[in-house]
Amino acid sequence: MSDISQARLTPTTRAGSRKVFIKTYGCQMNVYDSQRMGDALANGGYVATETMEDADLILLNTCHIREKAAEKIYSELGRIRDMKAERALEGRDMRVAVAGCVAQAEGEEIIARAPVVDLVIGPQTYHRLPEALARVDKGERVIETDYAVEDKFEHLPRAAKKDIRARGVTAFLTVQEGCDKFCTFCVVPYTRGAEVSRPFAQILDEARQLAEAGVREVTLLGQNVNAWHGKDPTGKSIGLGGLLFALAEIPGLKRLRYTTSHPRDMDDALIAAHRDLPALMPYLHLPVQSGSDAILKAMNRRHSAADYLRLIDRIRTARSDIALSGDFIVGFPGESEADFEATMQLVSDVDYASAFSFKYSARPGTPGAALSDHVSEAVKSERLARLQALLRRQQQAFSESLVGQSLSVLIEKPGRRPGQIVGRSPYLQPVVMRQGVGAIGDIVTVEIANSVANSLIAEGAMHLEPTGMVA
Ligand code: 5AD
Ligand code: SF4
Repeated sequence: MSDISQARLTPTTRAGSRKVFIKTYGCQMNVYDSQRMGDALANGGYVATETMEDADLILLNTCHIREKAAEKIYSELGRIRDMKAERALEGRDMRVAVAGCVAQAEGEEIIARAPVVDLVIGPQTYHRLPEALARVDKGERVIETDYAVEDKFEHLPRAAKKDIRARGVTAFLTVQEGCDKFCTFCVVPYTRGAEVSRPFAQILDEARQLAEAGVREVTLLGQNVNAWHGKDPTGKSIGLGGLLFALAEIPGLKRLRYTTSHPRDMDDALIAAHRDLPALMPYLHLPVQSGSDAILKAMNRRHSAADYLRLIDRIRTARSDIALSGDFIVGFPGESEADFEATMQLVSDVDYASAFSFKYSARPGTPGAALSDHVSEAVKSERLARLQALLRRQQQAFSESLVGQSLSVLIEKPGRRPGQIVGRSPYLQPVVMRQGVGAIGDIVTVEIANSVANSLIAEGAMHLEPTGMVA
């Protein structure tokens, strides 16, 4: 799962309405949730602003996955407190809301530690946001973190077509939330709750709406997205593979992706989807976390390193050009040098196109935090540096292997320099192209001339001096 530093709503202006500034931390699921909260607020008369200073409502959509992510929120709230005090001197009011996983996990603590916060709202109750804000308007400080019995997606308003358009030709679509796997390092089962799949019809409906508004690529999201299960219109039980086959039929949807998956839920139908669906991009994020069987066991991953490697073989047999991505944790309690070496070996065996790697961070309430034998920060840092150097070499080698090849690229937006246009390769890399190769939303085939930093440069765009733009 990739971290994003922040994503904001597309701003619009309308005189007289209240302004909301939404700052998003963490994973793509939070980006999606922020959009849906923005849609709910738009219904309540709010318009989005890009400037925190202008906002009548600041909404932080937070991440609790590692300690650093959670701590960021409290420092941001410190800055907001000062801003609110300044505005009070001018006689202007401002509301502050904290949403997301920190809100869910530390609701009471936020209210106690940060008096500036008016509302704490957990991910399961976003549909209650307008009502909760109305209570704030009456002077209450509100904590709304119960798991709702009703389906939040049923109750959240649809996005307006113009807002979908403004967000671009790619979109996220949450199909599953929560997790029942209980990896011993992870807070997700506690913050996002039990695994829940959205119904087939609801997903198809939203995907059609996105396609009609001009979206060409949809990424299905879930903490454990490949655990999605449901019933097709004939009543047959299907998994994510079946869902992908149905989505591939929607006119206009040219590309499909999904993230994040667990190795144990990669079933035959999903592997068949990779084999049979040209729309399903040949890129798979499949976290393994460690290459040591002892650590995998202690993490409660319920598979061995050999199981993972066998699975990768099966996937590569189905789709030979698939590029793999993963997540890794170094310094889980008890990790010896030999355990770490096993991770390095697995990385060498798989050969990743990209990856995310982290130092283990003990999260309150998880079984991992209660283990003895914690690894020192110095050792964690040293291992992370070695692992990242290897992963970087692999990523670079992968990008360089594409030079001279023709790739299909979905054109997404103008480049940073005049005359440039930028799209995505099937493997998620930004591709810088010469303007004129096509329009935003088109899929074009271009020859790759160069690979620079995180981007690929298409033939004909070379003289434009790449800016090294990243995702
Ligand atoms: N410490 C470090 N990394 C973690 N992740 C999840 N929990 C922790 C933790 N306690 C990483 C895993 C997961 C990704 C989203 O974040 O690698 O796949
Ligand atoms: Fe966390 Fe493991 Fe569930 Fe992924 S599968 S969300 S790492 S508990």
